[in-house]
Amino acid sequence: MDRLTLPRPLDAHLHLRDGAALAAVLPDSARQFADAVVMPNLKPPVRSTADALAYRQRIVAALPEGADFQPHMTLYLTDQTPPDEVEKAVAAGIVGVKLYPAGATTNSAEGVTDLDALRPVLAELSRLGLPLLIHGEVTHDSVDIFDRERVFVETVLSPLLDALPDLPVVLEHVTSAAGVAFVRAAGPRVAATLTAHHLLVDRNALLVGGIRPHYYCLPILKRREDREALLEAATSGDPAFFLGTDSAPHAVDAKEAACGCAGCYTAHAALELYAEAFDGVGCLDRLPFFAATAGRRFYGLPAPAGRLTLARGEWQPPSQLPFGEGRSLRPFRSEAPLSWRVLA
Ligand code: NCD
Ligand code: ZN
Repeated sequence: MDRLTLPRPLDAHLHLRDGAALAAVLPDSARQFADAVVMPNLKPPVRSTADALAYRQRIVAALPEGADFQPHMTLYLTDQTPPDEVEKAVAAGIVGVKLYPAGATTNSAEGVTDLDALRPVLAELSRLGLPLLIHGEVTHDSVDIFDRERVFVETVLSPLLDALPDLPVVLEHVTSAAGVAFVRAAGPRVAATLTAHHLLVDRNALLVGGIRPHYYCLPILKRREDREALLEAATSGDPAFFLGTDSAPHAVDAKEAACGCAGCYTAHAALELYAEAFDGVGCLDRLPFFAATAGRRFYGLPAPAGRLTLARGEWQPPSQLPFGEGRSLRPFRSEAPLSWRVLA
């Protein structure tokens, strides 16, 4: 197989930032994706429906001339989110509410410290069928960073699903074999996004032969066996698993630092990176369902007009890209050529 044509895909987990950074990165996503579920972890976060609609307008205003790209907005759950915000969100077409355990990742300081106290909000989500999108990691110092997703699934997600049997949930950027097994067993109201980077590399890429900050993201890269479980899920045709890049740009100096921040930028070559992962296990024919069908089915989003073609052929992605205001970013895995390319 040297060519693959698919409907324009959905990125079900994307960080677009704001201001000059938004203007710098948005064209990369708009070139490949018809639409995206946009994460709300701005500074300050997107807390209300009004915040989300204003952010949506800034995204639309930053689109390149003629681009056809739909941002689907989300809200950032805080300890103060009022239950009646959920109904407003649904009426405004917001597609989900994101749960960041406080301190779990980049810009999560205003996230949730006590999930039990938010039962009234969660009950509203369940009643109205609005998905809870979850950064699934515990944050206690006592739990090893490589175990934080598994422990979250066992101690937080499992009881939450028992307590709210109708709540739709997306376990975002699932990274572990334990997470995959849990989603598989949980039934159709539970789904998971999978990033390209977690399908392509494991923690050796981050740590062997030197520490590589551009491979540092959260949840952190796991073992080879975990990566194999993710690949198996992505290529299985199970509609519970779909594409979400978690493309999360940061300026080079913020990552190449004594305390570098978490996030990999993959939007410059998102489909190409997924194609490489799927082709690597001989399952390229499964990519259209994973990238363009399963996520839209879960969210009830219409199929877009237009198609996109990937062709086999080596090319070298740039090692630096502009990130606005004189800053630059280094895309994920730019040190080696890619073997698939989206045709213009
Ligand atoms: C994300 C970011 O930079 O916003 N970082 C990351 O490592 N994935 C936040 C997130 O999704 O955890
Ligand atoms: Zn993310």
